[in-house]
Amino acid sequence: MNNRSQQLARQLEKVNPFRVMTVMHRAAELEAAGRKIVHMEVGEPDFTTAQPIIDAAKVALDKGLTQYTAAPGITELRERICEHYQQRHGVTLSRDQVLVTPGASGGLTLLANLLVEHGDGILLSDPAYPCVRNFIHLMGATPQLVPVGLVENFQPTVELLKQHATDATSGVWLASPSNPTGTILDRQRLGEIANWSNQAGYSLLVDEIYHGLHYVEDLPSILELEPSAHVVNSFSKYFGMTGWRLGWIVVPESSIEMANILAQNLYISASSIAQHAALAAFESATQEMFESRRESFRQRRDFLAAALSQLGFGVSDSIEGAFYVYANISKFSDDAESFCQHILEQHGVAITPGTDFGEHDGRNHVRFAFTTGMEDLELGVERLAAALQNH
Ligand SMILES: Cc1ncc(COP(=O)(O)O)c(C=O)c1O
Repeated sequence: MNNRSQQLARQLEKVNPFRVMTVMHRAAELEAAGRKIVHMEVGEPDFTTAQPIIDAAKVALDKGLTQYTAAPGITELRERICEHYQQRHGVTLSRDQVLVTPGASGGLTLLANLLVEHGDGILLSDPAYPCVRNFIHLMGATPQLVPVGLVENFQPTVELLKQHATDATSGVWLASPSNPTGTILDRQRLGEIANWSNQAGYSLLVDEIYHGLHYVEDLPSILELEPSAHVVNSFSKYFGMTGWRLGWIVVPESSIEMANILAQNLYISASSIAQHAALAAFESATQEMFESRRESFRQRRDFLAAALSQLGFGVSDSIEGAFYVYANISKFSDDAESFCQHILEQHGVAITPGTDFGEHDGRNHVRFAFTTGMEDLELGVERLAAALQNH
């Protein structure tokens, strides 16, 4: 191998596989062999896409709206997204600041290319959504992992960020609510981080993909506090459209031109049919469906967090968004991967090891996704109780 290939191989080696996929694969094998598996591994709403969205997609197909769209997306959808920020957050955006992307994943890829240069350091919490680390590696940059635990409500503080910043640091990437912990950055902490990051001259990106799926009154968008921040969001979670591959980013005026150029080059446009369908997501009848689904998630959270804590798992009492419980298993094991394997193989409950989400204390944590109905959640808890009775 020549030097260049070696360098590339080293960069790619840092991109680790997503262990949850292995869990999913094994769970499917066990199901094919006739076992009943309780699925708490997948970060995907169990509800199918709301009917008005499906109907709108059929109309789009019948009208032949099947070509590429403009790179930043169709005007009507970008305008609806602007209205959404005005209504939910009191933030006025220009349509040009909003680019529709192929999922938040497409948005993160674009923003990594826009904001991160070779050799940069990007501050990230640990644990966090694993793909983010990998996007940064792929840019030849370094994820600067900031360990966060129960004490900090699994979200960074300015103090912690300062401790991990170096001369190479050029950006801060946050997620609120967070995957895998479901915790949020409250208005004060988000504001403090934004001020500090601004003063340091860093770019600031906030992943707001779990917005809408929150169980507190006040969940600020970073755009309420810091108009120069970059935001990623998606139709996958609150809007229940994972398979449609549709998301969006919001960029400040200064980034609009470059973001458009990147969109043209990276993916030409997001799916035309999905964009036309997503217009229906903003109708009031559809929003009512989302709100009732959110209520179901809230009930599941209340049930699961209490049940797990009763079984001896260490559980945060402020899971304020998303659909995850990030539970400490140290009472039972210090090896999350074999714990998950055992619980799946012997007891038919699929969960994800904390090691998927970072280096900090992942061996002592597992992630439960409450993306399955109450009946299965109850069965899952019953099986866990049986599995852990000797501990
Ligand atoms: C925090 C976070 N960001 C981004 C994504 C990617 O979502 P999508 O590409 O489906 O919009 C996910 C998916 O689980 C996530 O949890």
